[in-house]
Amino acid sequence: MNSLIIAIWLMLPAYLPNNFAVLFGGGRPLDLGRSFPDGRRILGDGKTFRGTIMGVLAGTGLGLILDSIASSRPDLGLPGFGSGYELILVLVGLSLGAMAGDVVASFFKRRMGMKRGESLFLVDQLDFVVGSWALTLLLAPQWFSENFTSEIIFIVLIVTPLLHRATNIIGYKIKAKKEPW
Ligand code: CTP
Ligand code: MG
Repeated sequence: MNSLIIAIWLMLPAYLPNNFAVLFGGGRPLDLGRSFPDGRRILGDGKTFRGTIMGVLAGTGLGLILDSIASSRPDLGLPGFGSGYELILVLVGLSLGAMAGDVVASFFKRRMGMKRGESLFLVDQLDFVVGSWALTLLLAPQWFSENFTSEIIFIVLIVTPLLHRATNIIGYKIKAKKEPW
């Protein structure tokens, strides 16, 4: 199987959480509305319990589906997400790690005085990638090193900002469709 397809396939459980958070986020913020000693919000209203939980569930659920496809169709040559209980560690690593990376980035954006939703080039595009890799490396180091070769890591770093941009345009268009005209 083509390396670009494998890179995207391996990252899908980390890509989906952000989209689910956008679609289903809202309600009580993770920082409970509290401020940091610098007077600014700890994380801001863009990081919510509902968005984070829905994101992790969606990423893990998608990962279970992808893993069953990989094992039932070995002819496709697509990698699985770990055997036995390693599977759950990998999927939690990829999906919760993605959400956590995004939360950590928001923490630093607030410390830099940036408002919720203000864009920070490359950090917004790659925070969840770094988070998903860090947590997966911690929880399932063997699976990580077997699957995320330097070639795959390189492809993900190049392709993710492009996919992120395309997804945002689609999201905007979906919203535009909701206008009455
Ligand atoms: N979201 C959420 N919970 C999360 C992440 C995202 O509810 N853990 C939802 C929020 O409604 C958020 C939207 O998804 O506004 C877009 O996410 P993101 O771009 O990460 O947040 P921003 O609003 O841009 O805030 P920040 O400046 O902190 O990145
Ligand atoms: Mg944002």
